[in-house]
Amino acid sequence: MKRTLGVCYYPEHWPEAQWAEDAARMAALGLTWVRIGEFAWSRIEPQPGTLDWDWLDRAIATLGAAGLKVVLGTPTATPPRWMIDRHPDMLAVDRQGRARGFGSRRHYDFAHEGYRAECGRIVTLMAERYGRNPHVAAWQTDNEYACHDTVLSFSDVSLRAFRNWLARKYQSPQALNRAWGNVFWSMDYADFEEIGLPNLTVTEANPAHWMDYRRFASDMVVEFNRLQAEIIRRHSAAPIAHNYMGRITDFDHFAVGADLEIASWDSYPLGFLSDRLEASADHKRRFVRQGDPDFQAFHHDLYRAVGRGRWWIMEQQPGPVNWAPYNPDPLPGMARLWAWEAFAHGAEAVCYFRWRQAPFAQEQMHAGLLRPDSAPAPAFDEAGQVARELAEMPDQGTAQARVALVFDYASAWAWEVQPQGRDFDYFRLVFHIYKGLRRLGLSVDILPPDCADLAPYALVLAPGVATLSEPLLKALAAHQGQALIGPRSNAKTPDFATPVPLPPNLPGLAATVARVESLPPDVPVPLARGGQVLHWREKLETTAQVVEVAEDGWPVLVATGGLHYLAGWPDAAALERILSEACARAGLAAERLPEGLRRRDSATHAFWFNYNSDPITWGGVTIPPAGVHWQALAP
Ligand code: GAL
Repeated sequence: MKRTLGVCYYPEHWPEAQWAEDAARMAALGLTWVRIGEFAWSRIEPQPGTLDWDWLDRAIATLGAAGLKVVLGTPTATPPRWMIDRHPDMLAVDRQGRARGFGSRRHYDFAHEGYRAECGRIVTLMAERYGRNPHVAAWQTDNEYACHDTVLSFSDVSLRAFRNWLARKYQSPQALNRAWGNVFWSMDYADFEEIGLPNLTVTEANPAHWMDYRRFASDMVVEFNRLQAEIIRRHSAAPIAHNYMGRITDFDHFAVGADLEIASWDSYPLGFLSDRLEASADHKRRFVRQGDPDFQAFHHDLYRAVGRGRWWIMEQQPGPVNWAPYNPDPLPGMARLWAWEAFAHGAEAVCYFRWRQAPFAQEQMHAGLLRPDSAPAPAFDEAGQVARELAEMPDQGTAQARVALVFDYASAWAWEVQPQGRDFDYFRLVFHIYKGLRRLGLSVDILPPDCADLAPYALVLAPGVATLSEPLLKALAAHQGQALIGPRSNAKTPDFATPVPLPPNLPGLAATVARVESLPPDVPVPLARGGQVLHWREKLETTAQVVEVAEDGWPVLVATGGLHYLAGWPDAAALERILSEACARAGLAAERLPEGLRRRDSATHAFWFNYNSDPITWGGVTIPPAGVHWQALAP
């Protein structure tokens, strides 16, 4: 497969006289794709029922004539102002009960039937008009579901939809009372109509109530997306994508992804480092112009799983962004490195955001490939270099990794609903483990929580999975390799109760979590072999083999055969030992990489990425700052 580059473009932002020249420059730069349309509803339908497609017809024709392929976005993330008059109750409502207003974007409630019908109408018109257009080669539904905290809505609209969802799930209020444990604090309901949303209660609402509300809210996103995908598919054979985000767990991306051909995500490494990462001040300073060396890779692997192998970068940071606490300029070379890293993880395409920096409105401080005056910005030449390198580089394929890490969105909700310790965050835990694997130079596949086939993997990890699914438990029982489960895995029933017999209830492993404790960050638990447990630990009663023990005598890692249970959150030093030994048992070659140097193998090549601002010498090769080095693997 040919790997390609692209860019996000907004023809409606620029005089039409400029389009042809823009298109010619994109093609000359070596770009293949142009994503357009996703915020253009007010220009497509300026008044209800009055449609103006002419400009979009001409924009697509102009781009197509230059040899570019269009990704056409449905414009449903930005309903025009008149829409609010037609559906005043379509605005989402925040936790405090305040409606979220018009004047930016994503001002809608996923559960609103009237708005869904409007989306169905505009998507139908768009798909009918462009479904067979030869230049429209892919679609994008909406834009960044969940962005700006928009999945949870505490509106009357959501309340009614939630009650219906509960009635379908439980059939009777008695069954719901039993499942939630509503005898506690006299919370029994006699009718589904009595049930409220879990915000604005006096103290915490029942965690089972919250969990169902989170599942419901996720289902609303899935339904909203499916509606659009089904319409597009009736009119077009082109693949459909959505652009997901970094560190967003508000809905089940695997469930949305099941309705789409391609997963894509929007990668803003410097924004994420500043805005979305627990890391020391030193780490943030060291990588301030490069981004965290693992954050992008994690999402590449995650979205490869969400897309069942097919994934893109739909938006790639090209320079300073506008939305993080601090918005530095990337180190020269990073716009190239980030693209190559995505390709090494199997991306089909990388699209930069955006073509030209806008001189107006909210994102005027956000860089593009061009400055507002159309002169090239630094990333312009780096994109051109990647395009030339891609032309010379044979297809590198996507490697089958030997290490697998399970990722489960419902567990993110579970530990948000019931953290039990301020620092217990699901993403943080999984990402910490992922970083440990990457420090050892390992390529990782991320797996969905209902994965039934572990055969390709010598090492499987499932930290913090609240409820292990039946298929995964069966696959673990049959698995021949090494597995590392926990901490806090299989700790809840599907109804969000504590299972009895007590967790972790793993096939053939005689261990019981007798007690758990959470700890402030400055109260670590030292381990006998060095390193420590932080944030969270479990006290295990066990007759299994004890591999790691705390200085106070409580087991921390126990095993029967290849199946291991980890009873605490290891710090980096303990994690490195635990993972290195797991690799040795699994027969995996681990190489401890220097800080900031990362490796990822494709099917044919090993790639090294230098995230440091200094050159690094490794394996006899010196890689410059922000440099990429690749080398063919022995067949
Ligand atoms: C993304 C979004 C784009 C643009 C970009 C700026 O989250 O999809 O429309 O706002 O961020 O970095």
